[in-house]
Amino acid sequence: MELHVLQHPLVEHKLTVLRNKNTPSNTFRELVSELVMLEAYEATRNLAISDYPIETPVASMVGKKLSTPRPMVVPVLRAGLGMLDGMTRLVPTAEVGFLGMKRDENTLDIVTYANRLPEDLSGRQCFLLDPMLATGGTLIAATHYLAERGAKDVTAINIIAAPEGLDRLREEIDPSIDFKVVVCAVDEKLNEKSYIVPGLGDAGDRLYGVI
Ligand code: URA
Repeated sequence: MELHVLQHPLVEHKLTVLRNKNTPSNTFRELVSELVMLEAYEATRNLAISDYPIETPVASMVGKKLSTPRPMVVPVLRAGLGMLDGMTRLVPTAEVGFLGMKRDENTLDIVTYANRLPEDLSGRQCFLLDPMLATGGTLIAATHYLAERGAKDVTAINIIAAPEGLDRLREEIDPSIDFKVVVCAVDEKLNEKSYIVPGLGDAGDRLYGVI
């Protein structure tokens, strides 16, 4: 697993406003989009491109364009939806799939309650969006779900990660998957309710104005 932690003054500034409990939902949503765009720049560094001949007003040249198949962007519902706008603003030709995952209250297993994804993801560069990488359980299940459909190249884009979740990813993600994680910060720890400390609270609630 390859981990990229963004180090940039704009990221630190925006993340601090995002974490602040007094920041209202509309500002929170805007900041998530802006942070995702900065993360997407890093996360897409190895996107496949191919030669593309064009005419400029002055001369012929061979430029580059994103190769097909198109990159696949997969927000994990619900909070991952808040990251979709930033990602598609930077990569407008990406195809978007959806994955809904939640923990079964009785068995504590992660269950997939919704999916809208192509059956065959072989050869696709996939980007999973989920703001909080807490225990890592959802991300492990989502990555293996994509891998079962043939994906071999998966990048997770999260805003904040907990060290416990990152450790679990290192142990449990199938090493045959080319797996990367891009985050704005790695925080101190998880608390007893599996919230990231200091974190930013419940990302879904803050995005959608529940609190
Ligand atoms: N999910 C959240 O929204 N926040 C956390 O701190 C952990 C998981």
